Amino acid sequence: MAMEGRFHFYEGYGMKEVTFPIRVMYELGITTLFVSNASGGMNPEFRIGDLMIITDHINMFPEHPLRGHNFPTGPRFPDMHEAYDHKLVALADEIAKEKNIRVMHGVYMGVQGPTFETPAEYRMYHKMGADAVGMSTVPEVIVARHSGIKVFGVSVITDLGGFDVPVKVSHEEVQEAANAAQPRMTEIMREMIKRS
Ligand code: HPA
Repeated sequence: MAMEGRFHFYEGYGMKEVTFPIRVMYELGITTLFVSNASGGMNPEFRIGDLMIITDHINMFPEHPLRGHNFPTGPRFPDMHEAYDHKLVALADEIAKEKNIRVMHGVYMGVQGPTFETPAEYRMYHKMGADAVGMSTVPEVIVARHSGIKVFGVSVITDLGGFDVPVKVSHEEVQEAANAAQPRMTEIMREMIKRS
């Protein structure tokens, strides 16, 4: 099952709506979720167009997707120590190496948007332990993990923030960088599906 796009919190959807597709996937018996997004890189080693395999996340959304009655798909207080499956990360690394595709690893911070970050915000998020920041993904991953679905995630670094010289970001640049990186990401994911 594949989704074309997603529901974002900044569009005005509630967390239950943002994560509803994951509930549907669970009911249909999906056991592994592949997520992707575009993000602003704050790790000085990152370049625009890099693929960052998400190794962990920081949830900065103002509302939690599991707030309210607990769904019987998982416990009230779900464990999040391996939100992104280590075996799938290793498999992606192996495939990227074989295919000579540059991949970085990093922590993704999920924020509500819709503003891109101020230079001070990028610096703060980097100090807090994030390598990239974006406006999606974390709610879906939380609901998937609560439902016992394994997760693999890739973030395309579409712009950079938090460095000495602040750079302007636009939606058009983000889309352009994401489109350019997509074939590399798809190649890795297609091979992962074949081998797992
Ligand atoms: N910040 C937040 N979300 C984003 C960014 C960013 O710099 N780039 C793409 N999505």
